[in-house]
Amino acid sequence: MNGRIPTLGGTGGSRAWFDRAQSSLAGGISSSARLTSTGPHPYPLYMASGSGTRIRDVDGNEYLDFLISYGSAVLGHAAPELTEALTGVLHSGTMFGTCNPVEVELAELICEMVPCAELVRFANSGSEAVQGAIRAARGYTGRSKILKFEGHYHGWSDTLAISNRPTAAEAGPYDAPHAVPHSPGIPGGVVDDVVVCPWNDPAALHAVLEAHRGELAAVICEPIVANNACTMPAPGFLDLLREECTARGIVLVFDEVCTGFRTGPGGAQALFGVVPDLAVFSKALGGGLPIAAFAGLRQVMEPMARGQVKHGGTYNASPLCATAALVTLRRLNRTEVTKRIDETGRQVMETIRRATRDRGIPCAVQGVGAMFQTVFTPDGAPTRHYRDLLTTDQDRYHAFRHELLKRGIHTNAYNMACWFVSATVTDDELAATCEAVTEAVAAL
Ligand SMILES: Cc1ncc(COP(=O)(O)O)c(C=O)c1O
Repeated sequence: MNGRIPTLGGTGGSRAWFDRAQSSLAGGISSSARLTSTGPHPYPLYMASGSGTRIRDVDGNEYLDFLISYGSAVLGHAAPELTEALTGVLHSGTMFGTCNPVEVELAELICEMVPCAELVRFANSGSEAVQGAIRAARGYTGRSKILKFEGHYHGWSDTLAISNRPTAAEAGPYDAPHAVPHSPGIPGGVVDDVVVCPWNDPAALHAVLEAHRGELAAVICEPIVANNACTMPAPGFLDLLREECTARGIVLVFDEVCTGFRTGPGGAQALFGVVPDLAVFSKALGGGLPIAAFAGLRQVMEPMARGQVKHGGTYNASPLCATAALVTLRRLNRTEVTKRIDETGRQVMETIRRATRDRGIPCAVQGVGAMFQTVFTPDGAPTRHYRDLLTTDQDRYHAFRHELLKRGIHTNAYNMACWFVSATVTDDELAATCEAVTEAVAAL
């Protein structure tokens, strides 16, 4: 179906599945982030199928999808070239737990596309690959502490699930934030090894680096902070990170789980022209299948290459997931593909800007075309760091998201997350999205 999409009908089927799930799944869900609501309805949507940009829930409602499994389904759902390649692997064996030729071809392609990638290792999720990069950095430097930025998300594992979403009361002073564990169950010893700093603040960065001189193994960041509503790096801030890390012998890690291969074939490091020592990839890498990678300079990866620093994983680079990644990256390595993704997103961004400006609604639409978010800041200025996000109008965000959902546009339920754009949005679907956005803003 092209053009206009139907408005949201009943969602009783989703409600029934959520009720049923309570007795077998802890909390009825498989990931904490999925405990969302459907506008006024206190249960998440259950999806049944997808094709291209469209997904369909168990009640038969159809949506244009700008969640695309958190950016993973970058070629769209059930992309024909993936279906064909993966069907072949289903027939020839999905996994042997041994070395396989596809992982080699995939690693070679990553080294060709990504500026920092001289050696690669694979994993199955972003959290795991972050853990691998941190292990590599600690093994290489012989140091323990990691500097992370407040609000940046690097997965759910203990290592860095710290100060992801602290409340204003927990967060401590702006320029020397507390390291706040994201959850009970994270040991104090792990928290002690994490130093937290505000994003985009050169003076605060300098002070924190000085206070921990000689102790830091790595500085890790999301170069575009997808998990802080696509807060952009201030001009020169990534360069400053690069200079400081080089001067101090600290491994600079870019978490490109969201930006990788999406913001262009070389990810954010190519976009901003700043090359980290290590980078972490997942999401768009697998085109919807679970695969991740960490990659970086030969020198930093060398202790792992020698087998001195350990890394493992039964499922790493299985032929099934490595094939999905190879097919996906071959497509994303064509600049016209990432350019189209970017241009599609930019048109939606511009439509939101125009509609909110016409109605005098203060907000910023920030990020890049491939991933962006609307933040209802009090003065309409873009956010600079996590603390700015605590002052945004969350009720208005949720109302906007609900109005979009009613008009068949599926976006992330969280105001601190973002829209992800796939390569399959047709001109008609883009026009329908822009129309729905304009109507949704008018309904606020
Ligand atoms: C920037 C970033 N890093 C790491 C992760 C963790 O990835 P995963 O959920 O695959 O473990 C995420 C997940 O959203 C992410 O956005």
